[in-house]
Amino acid sequence: MSTIAWVESIAKKEIEMQWGKIEEVVDRLITFSWDITLMVRMNLWSRVWNKVYMLLDEKDWVTDFDTLFDLVKNIHWKRYFKKDFPLLVKSSSVRSELFSSRTIQSIWKKAIIKSVKWEAWVLNEDDSLEKLEVLVLIIDNKAKILLNTSWNALHMRGYRTEAWEAPIKESLAAALVLLSNWRFKENMYDPFCGSWTIAIEALMIAKNIAPWLKRWFAYEKLKLIDWDSAEKERALARKKNFDWDYKIFASDIDPEMIEIAKQNAKRAWLEDGIIFEVKDFKDYIDNNISWTLVSNPPYWERLKDENIRWLYNNIDKLFRLNPELKWWIISSYLEFDNQIEKTNYKKRKLYNWGEKCYFWKRV
Ligand SMILES: C[S@@+](CC[C@H](N)C(=O)[O-])C[C@H]1O[C@@H](n2cnc3c(N)ncnc32)[C@H](O)[C@@H]1O
Repeated sequence: MSTIAWVESIAKKEIEMQWGKIEEVVDRLITFSWDITLMVRMNLWSRVWNKVYMLLDEKDWVTDFDTLFDLVKNIHWKRYFKKDFPLLVKSSSVRSELFSSRTIQSIWKKAIIKSVKWEAWVLNEDDSLEKLEVLVLIIDNKAKILLNTSWNALHMRGYRTEAWEAPIKESLAAALVLLSNWRFKENMYDPFCGSWTIAIEALMIAKNIAPWLKRWFAYEKLKLIDWDSAEKERALARKKNFDWDYKIFASDIDPEMIEIAKQNAKRAWLEDGIIFEVKDFKDYIDNNISWTLVSNPPYWERLKDENIRWLYNNIDKLFRLNPELKWWIISSYLEFDNQIEKTNYKKRKLYNWGEKCYFWKRV
């Protein structure tokens, strides 16, 4: 499986919680031994992964196209695929002799046609069709043929169809909540909530709601598991929810954002669990707030330099005035480092949609 950068430790814990055994961690790819039930559960339960792949075959020292051709051709493809879904091949090569994506994909196509002889459906390139994905991954000349069992990346939970500016990736929002060590019965604040991603992910974690109950997965379209067994796993996941009167406060200065956020929370069936408000962040400064704050303040959008400095000075002020508050912010406004007393802070590098950020914590 693949995960977002710098949260491998959480991704590993998620595997261990489902009793999976980790075999290897390389370049954001975590390999674990598995069976069909574990694969389904990992798709349903992981909050921080991108995709769960099944390893079809692998070979060391693949440095010529003939060897790659044989590796692909010898896979028993008909064991995995039904005839009605075309395939999409992706490739990625790191520190290896075979690196041309176009050639790797053309070799793969020739080999699979030799193997299954269902040319018409395998190679249907109609963009409007949903496709099952095979990934040819070559790292240090070791080739792995991987079948994507998730379909779309898992951060696409299905609840966020509306977002305004700079929404954070759902899987990253979940990672922030988990990294903050928030104790669910304590108050949680997000004073720059935007479309509420952090608040929604926090509530799903607190209620133990499987994040993927609202979408479909590639494994349902493969010959890996029958429909009834897949449904049984979803039903089991639903039974694991629990309830409490959680106190999650989400606010934003922009009323339009709060409207979007409400729609998103409704789609996630969580509109009753979050207390929302149109509110300027500075109104928190003189109010004594305690417990946990996880937020993603603005960093570039529409703010002039002096405004952004002012805003981040006030964030620091809020934290200084509220020593009881355990707080964390994620931002790509790296200048924040020069506005604070560094010894009072710890930071961790993360990426939001590929952009470098820090997750600052006041200690
Ligand atoms: C980077 S976005 C947050 C995105 C959010 N994490 C999400 O996933 O949608 C920053 C938000 O801060 C809000 N904002 C800007 N200045 C503010 C202020 N003074 N007080 C409260 N909210 C503010 C903006 O309206 C914007 O929605």
